[in-house]
Amino acid sequence: MDVFEAMHTRRSIRKFDPDKPVGAADLEKILAAAMFAPSAGNAQPWHFVIVTDPGLRDALSRIHPYVGMLRQAPVGIVVCAELALEKFPGYWVQDLAAAVQNLLLAARGLGLGTVWTGVCPIQERMDAVRRILSLPDGVEPHAIIPLGWPAQEFVHTERFREDRVHTNGW
Ligand SMILES: Cc1cc2nc3c(=O)[nH]c(=O)nc-3n(C[C@H](O)[C@H](O)[C@H](O)COP(=O)(O)O)c2cc1C
Repeated sequence: MDVFEAMHTRRSIRKFDPDKPVGAADLEKILAAAMFAPSAGNAQPWHFVIVTDPGLRDALSRIHPYVGMLRQAPVGIVVCAELALEKFPGYWVQDLAAAVQNLLLAARGLGLGTVWTGVCPIQERMDAVRRILSLPDGVEPHAIIPLGWPAQEFVHTERFREDRVHTNGW
């Protein structure tokens, strides 16, 4: 799929086919795309915890009101940062956001659905993810991405806004 088509038709998918698994080759392509993201000083401070266990997905789906779709999605990708890998401290949230966006677009290119569900910077959610997945000290969870075959359409909506573009100053 053309990169512009992927960007313009990526939508948050919140309904998944619970019986259709995500293939290992597709999952690896998606993770590789995430790891090709830019990062400050090329630190690549990310880790990806793949959660397929139904009990763990259920536990994660309850950490806040907007991640319940993880019960249906066959895979959850928990994107985390290892802070000791940073070269320029403080950039990890941006590094991981770039990785997440690559991941979402790669999944779209393969016809798979995703939704970015927020964890960082809400401490209560970060603590809950740490507890459920036994994250070590120095590793911070950033987002949870439910992944699976969509049970809804990728709807295209126009979003370009000329009034948000400023040339040579505001
Ligand atoms: C940082 C961040 C956190 C988000 N958290 C959630 C969430 O917890 N649950 C959810 O259903 N969607 C979440 N979203 C998805 C947004 O609601 C969605 O991207 C937005 O409504 C635009 O829709 P689209 O993704 O279909 O273009 C999040 C998106 C971002 C970037």
